[in-house]
Amino acid sequence: MKLLVTGGAGFIGSNFIRYWLQRHPGDRITNLDKLTYAGNRANLEGMPPGGELVCRDICDAGLEDLMEGVDAVVHFAAESHVDRSIDSAEIFIQTNVLGTHRLLEAARRKRIARFLHVSTDEVYGALEAEGEFTEAAPLQPNSPYAASKAGGDLLARAYFQTYRFPVILTRSCNNYGPYQHPEKLIPLMATNALEDRPLPVYGKGKQVREWLHVEDHCRVLELALQRGRPGEVYNLGSEQRRTNLQVVQTILRLLDKPQSLIQFVADRPGHDFRYALDAGKARRELQWEPEIDFETGLERTLCWYRQNPAWVESARGPSYKKYYSQMYDNREKRLSEL
Ligand code: NAD
Ligand code: DAU
Repeated sequence: MKLLVTGGAGFIGSNFIRYWLQRHPGDRITNLDKLTYAGNRANLEGMPPGGELVCRDICDAGLEDLMEGVDAVVHFAAESHVDRSIDSAEIFIQTNVLGTHRLLEAARRKRIARFLHVSTDEVYGALEAEGEFTEAAPLQPNSPYAASKAGGDLLARAYFQTYRFPVILTRSCNNYGPYQHPEKLIPLMATNALEDRPLPVYGKGKQVREWLHVEDHCRVLELALQRGRPGEVYNLGSEQRRTNLQVVQTILRLLDKPQSLIQFVADRPGHDFRYALDAGKARRELQWEPEIDFETGLERTLCWYRQNPAWVESARGPSYKKYYSQMYDNREKRLSEL
């Protein structure tokens, strides 16, 4: 089989390529990645043979050239960080909406047999203390990131409705695991804790996220390619739900670091309170069950960050340091101010 994977130098994309090539020796993967700040060549080190990186933008014209003989497209490429989208939304609209359209159109013209559009639970918006989102929930995105992903999702749906182009959509909850950029909660807290630096928790840390190990995500994406029905949406949830404060406290406990490293800081504007997915459809139709429970997966993940200081260094270069200081300097709040 030959796949075109977009965004394969990022977190989930690189884990997916490694997973696929290990399980399907002899298959070939073209990895189309622009290598933004989030794409890292170090994510591709030690890959099994069969992959080729092509440094291009999904917004470019002429992507058909990369689709010769391709059986399926797996589309991960995106601007993916909510905080950056709050700061500056335009690149999110460009990549996540326009880029997704360019890719869909090129794939339709080349009559690609399957197009897997990798999306997120954030397109549904946020929940209060109760309830779960099914695939029938309305799209009510709250951040510019989530709105741009919802735009891509709607185009993917329209390509099925209008052209019967065989798109399958997946919407996953929060992923964690190796090779995740340290701007995101778990690697940020892990790498700070390993250096005894403060752990900046937004607000009071009461928001709830649902956590899926990236390996469980890669496995269900493989199943979606094999068994998913064109035109359908599949929620990919784990039922492993934790408040941010619980996650951070667990990281400190597992790393044997003091809880006093926790620092409460000003909240994210428009911070979604809770995500929770009903993943019954994926369990039934794709015969998928997540296998890695959160505490076990978190312990493995923390070991990986501890054992890979060179990778951490590669991901925390000068541009990350600048980002970190813009985002976190002078953000600390007393709890009474929150
Ligand atoms: P990431 O930010 O780690 O990686 C994104 C990759 O896309 C990078 O390699 C980057 O260089 C590449 N890219 C960005 N813009 C591009 C462009 N215009 N052209 C080509 N390549 C470009 O993201 P991730 O966390 O691995 O997420 C991958 C996908 O999964 C995204 O679509 C995201 O919305 C979705 N998703 C992520 C999570 C999560 O928890 N990380 C959960 C659900 C869904
Ligand atoms: O739900 C799926 C989404 O999960 C994906 O679509 C996004 O691409 C991915 O980035 C992630 O979005 P979140 O906003 O949930 O992830 P993030 O790691 O940025 O934050 C997780 C929670 O932790 C969120 O409630 C904000 C909080 N947080 C985050 C950071 C970086 C903090 O309290 N402190 C921090 O420094």
